[in-house]
Amino acid sequence: MALVKKKGDGTGWSALRIQKPSVGSWTQAYPELGTEPISYEDSISPEFFEAEREAVFKRCWLNVGRIEQVPKTGSYFTKELAVANTSIIVVRGSDQKIRAFHNICRHRGNKLVWTDYPDREDRGTCRQFACKYHGWRYSLDGKLTFIQQEEEFFGVDKEKYGLVEVNLDVWEGFIFVNLSREPVEPLREFLGEMARGMEGYPFHKLTQAFRYRAEVKANWKIFMDAFQEFYHAPVLHKKQIPTPEMAQALYEAGYHGIHYELFGPHRVVSSTGQTRIPRDEEPVKPIDRLTRSGLHGPWDELGNAPAELPRGINPTRSPLWGLDSFQFFPNFVILIWKANWYLTYHYWPLAADSHLFEGVLYFAPPKNAAERLAQETAAVTFKEFALQDGNTLQATQSMLKARVVDKFPLCDEEVLCRHLHKVTHDWVNAYQARG
Ligand code: FES
Ligand SMILES: [Fe+2]
Repeated sequence: MALVKKKGDGTGWSALRIQKPSVGSWTQAYPELGTEPISYEDSISPEFFEAEREAVFKRCWLNVGRIEQVPKTGSYFTKELAVANTSIIVVRGSDQKIRAFHNICRHRGNKLVWTDYPDREDRGTCRQFACKYHGWRYSLDGKLTFIQQEEEFFGVDKEKYGLVEVNLDVWEGFIFVNLSREPVEPLREFLGEMARGMEGYPFHKLTQAFRYRAEVKANWKIFMDAFQEFYHAPVLHKKQIPTPEMAQALYEAGYHGIHYELFGPHRVVSSTGQTRIPRDEEPVKPIDRLTRSGLHGPWDELGNAPAELPRGINPTRSPLWGLDSFQFFPNFVILIWKANWYLTYHYWPLAADSHLFEGVLYFAPPKNAAERLAQETAAVTFKEFALQDGNTLQATQSMLKARVVDKFPLCDEEVLCRHLHKVTHDWVNAYQARG
C-alpha cells in the first residue's frame, strides 16, 4: 500500500495522505484499462457517433429529470432526445404513476406537445393531450380518447392507437427512461452497486434548483472528461484562486484525488474540498465573504450534511473530504458536496462535435434572503468555472479534428477518462458484434 505525502505548502495540503491501491496506481488496479496512450477518434468520428446512438443512447437507462418536476396529476414535461432522434413526454397520471411516451400523434405524426417552438422543451399541467393538427386527444395514461370526425375513418380501433410508451423507472427520485423495447436489464441492476451506496442521501429535501444549459461545440465525452478529472483545476482555474500566492501553492501541490473507483460502466472520484469556514485573515473573494458562499457552496451549510452519510458517499470517510462526483454511464453525473447540496450534469449529444450541456444545482429551499443569496453566489461561481471549462473544450475539439496526433497519454488522476472511453467502445463493440 503506497502512501503519498504532499510537501508542506501552507495550504493544508501537507495533511493530505492518500492511499493508492497496492499495485501502485488507481489505473493499474483495473488492468483492463491499460496504461497506454489513448485515441480520441471516438470523439471526432461521425461514424462512431452514429454507432453510439444505436449502441448506447437507444439502449441505456437515461436520466431525464426528477419527480419534483411532475408534482401532481397532469404535470408533464417534454425532453428532446436528439441523440435518439426523438422527443418524449413525461407525465403523472391520475393513478399517480409517472409514465413516458414518445411525443408523436398517432394520426399523421405531428409532435404532440409543444408551445410556440416545436423544437423547444415544454412543461405544464393538463387534463389530457390534444394534437394541434386535427384535434385527436389522448388521456394522461396515453390512451386515444377522441378522433375528430371519427365517422369518416375506416374503422380505426382506438385501443390500438394509444401513445407509444417508453420504459420508465425511478431511483431516489430521479426519473430514468430506456428507449429500447426490452431493456438489457432493469434500472436498479443497471445502476448497480454505485447507486446502492448513495441510497438514503436526502435528495428529496434539496429541491431548490438553479439550472444552466449551453450548447458546447465539443463531443459529449470530451466535456465529461473535463469534469471527471481535477488534474486541470490548479492550472485552468488558477485565476479563480483569490491570491497569486495561493494559486501558486495549489499549482505546486498539484491535484490528488482521495479515491477513485469503477463500478461496471459507472465510476466515482472522491475529492478534497473546503471543509470549514475561512478565518477572517484568510484571503477569499469579497463577494464570497459578503454572501458567506462560494464554489463549494454556502458556508453556513458546512457540517450540515446528514450525520450518517450513506456508505458510498465519502467512501473512505476522509476528514478532508469535500465532494464526490458520481459518473453514471452514459451521460449523467451527480456531484455531492460536503456542505449538503448537490449538482447534476447531463451531456446530451447533438453531433460528433457538439452537445447540449445541462448543469443543475440543488439546495434546501432557502429560509431567508441571506440563504438565497448564498445559493446564488454558489450558482454564479459554478457558471464561471463551467465557462472556463467549456471554452477550453471547444479549443480541444477543434484541434483533435486535425488528426495530426492520434494517441494521447493519460495520467493516474485521469483514470476515469480512460474508463469512459473504454466502456463506450465496449458497448459499441458488443452491439456491433451482435450483427
Ligand atoms: S397529426 Fe395529430 S391529429 Fe392529425
Ligand atoms: Fe474545470
